[in-house]
Amino acid sequence: MDFSEKVTIVTGGALGIGGGISRKFAEKGSKIVIADIDLDSANINSKKIEDMGGKCEVIKTDVSKSKDIENMVKFTIEKYGRIDNLIQNAFSTGNFSEEFSGSAMKVSEEGWDKGIAMLQKAIFLGAKFAGKELIKNNGNIINISSVHGLLMSKNAIVYESGKSAVIGMTKQMACDFGPLGVRVNAICPGHIVTEKMEVRWKEMPKGLRFFEEQYPVRRTGVPEDIANGVAFLCSEEASFITGHSLVIDGGLSIQLQEDFGVDQAKYAQSHDVEFPY
Ligand SMILES: NC(=O)c1ccc[n+]([C@@H]2O[C@H](COP(=O)([O-])OP(=O)(O)OC[C@H]3O[C@@H](n4cnc5c(N)ncnc54)[C@H](O)[C@@H]3O)[C@@H](O)[C@H]2O)c1
Repeated sequence: MDFSEKVTIVTGGALGIGGGISRKFAEKGSKIVIADIDLDSANINSKKIEDMGGKCEVIKTDVSKSKDIENMVKFTIEKYGRIDNLIQNAFSTGNFSEEFSGSAMKVSEEGWDKGIAMLQKAIFLGAKFAGKELIKNNGNIINISSVHGLLMSKNAIVYESGKSAVIGMTKQMACDFGPLGVRVNAICPGHIVTEKMEVRWKEMPKGLRFFEEQYPVRRTGVPEDIANGVAFLCSEEASFITGHSLVIDGGLSIQLQEDFGVDQAKYAQSHDVEFPY
């Protein structure tokens, strides 16, 4: 897999899954633009990339703002002259504020609009503004969904709706962009232990152990697990794959619920368990 001469934009590329994707693409030779709301963390990741011998530019971007996404595309063209891969990843675990949590009866209309702007509208706007440039290079769009786009959790109308929509939008955009030479795919990660999650799990190691037990591979994921999938989907080896949502979850979502429920109850009976929530 060689991405030399390629240019990749990673939204939310400062930390977590996006941070890992930025480093993976740099390792494979791509020039990187980190488009993130958190400039300090973006600059730290950019420095890591430069220290690896890569090239990285940073632009402050809030993906809930149309103008910021338009500027991100303009900035990339000014800096590098082309765009090959647009990785639409931004949404923070820190964004799970009160206003996005709850059922349809609890979430305010304003909370819905704000959450969906980041989770769904940003995906549309990224394709809208970068589309013309991606077409020039037979490029790729990768949208980060979640196992929460496939299976629903209670009290999470905003996140589950946004992540399900990403899967549908990926298929729709693949139909429009395919004839123009651009492939559009999604990834559905299971639980990925990012820098922020590490802090949480340090305080609750038995909670993490309980999570790991729920995965057939008996571990949770790391950003590199997702970065590897994104790199594959953007590579020539995946040139016949479009409109696909690749589940990278260590088998979490393939289990029969009845079986799974009994196994977890047995585990909880025989272990000193901490429940993560
Ligand atoms: N970590 C997981 O277990 C997991 C599982 C499934 C899906 N996901 C998805 O993966 C993506 C990344 O999640 P993560 O866990 O790495 O999150 P994270 O909080 O560790 O990192 C998110 C990054 O996005 C940036 N960001 C947040 N809001 C932004 C905005 N409005 N505009 C631009 N940048 C913004 C943050 O500054 C940060 O650098 C999200 O779309 C998330 O929903 C995460």
